[in-house]
Amino acid sequence: MYTSSVDDPWLSASYTMSSSVGTYPPQEGHAETNQELYQGFTNLVSSWPCFPGFSGSQLYRHGKGWHASLAPMVGTMVADTCFTARPTDIVVATLPKSGTTWIKALLYSTVHRREYPADSCDHPFNSLGLHECIKFFEYQLYTQNKIPDLNELPDPRLFSTHVPFVSLPRSVVLASSCKIVYVCRDPKDHLISQWSFANKFRISKGLEPLSVEAATDFFCDGVTPFGPYWDHVLGYWRAHLACPEQVLFFRYEEMSLDPVAHVRKLAEFVGRPFSVEEEEDGTVDAIVKLCSFEHMAGLEATKDGKTELVTGAVENSSYFRRGVVADWKNHLSPEMAKKIDAITEAKFRGSGFPV
Ligand code: A3P
Repeated sequence: MYTSSVDDPWLSASYTMSSSVGTYPPQEGHAETNQELYQGFTNLVSSWPCFPGFSGSQLYRHGKGWHASLAPMVGTMVADTCFTARPTDIVVATLPKSGTTWIKALLYSTVHRREYPADSCDHPFNSLGLHECIKFFEYQLYTQNKIPDLNELPDPRLFSTHVPFVSLPRSVVLASSCKIVYVCRDPKDHLISQWSFANKFRISKGLEPLSVEAATDFFCDGVTPFGPYWDHVLGYWRAHLACPEQVLFFRYEEMSLDPVAHVRKLAEFVGRPFSVEEEEDGTVDAIVKLCSFEHMAGLEATKDGKTELVTGAVENSSYFRRGVVADWKNHLSPEMAKKIDAITEAKFRGSGFPV
């Protein structure tokens, strides 16, 4: 069991950092440009089948069966080629609208709890959007012809991705002690969250909102960003079963029921369990409170901030809608819900995945 001690390298490193905090989080170094590499992948992706997506932009079908718009798909392929994982890296993997922002907040505040106690006034969350604290490979790092220099980032480096397990950067999978934290969400809530998000985008572009019926059809056909949903979930589920010490698998609904237990599990998984002292002084509760929907939604960085993604700037507030379980009941007809449930049951049968 973990007990804090003055000889603990993590503890001493953290204290050193707290006395010399400069720009936080540390930024990636100088980026090289490799237009040729990006252009090659752009040409390849452009030759693949494409379909109109939820938000009005085209979704391409990757050779491994998943869908995404052009730029993040190209970024995925560049990351696969250029990213070099370290055994100490931690990668958050999710489908969009499955609790990405929440798990990033929990992971970041757990890993950095020594430099930034959850109740400190200068916590980075007060000034930075969550997606600046933990960046996406395919939306932020490997974009616009850039090959970022990530070597100077201190351990543990935290990254995120929406990419299915089959298309993770190969060094993430091969550097076998690199950790992956996956969160999945009930498909019907994931769909409604995605549909609401896409409609905001459509309206801002002067497009008609998409009906929930049309969104359900796209979803059931698997034509959603990084979908089909079921393949995404099963890819990480199987990886978790094969290698539980490398792939942590959380469910949004279970996190909502018992966030404290999930934060403890997360801390253990990343090799930083809470000490007895931390348990006693309420550190876990403070992290859960800091990352709660209510608290995060009310922060200035959420209300006024934007995140620059390769697909455009996104208002941080749009990552927070209702944050509840089973909101689908307010939007999906019983028939639509039944159709999704039937697909889910058929796809997950025999996988050991608890439906
Ligand atoms: P709803 O649209 O159902 O409200 P992502 O971060 O993957 O984009 O997921 C967004 C969904 O997670 C939204 O769901 C959002 O409200 C919810 N969410 C964001 N932050 C949350 C938090 N701290 N706790 C619980 N849910 C959160």
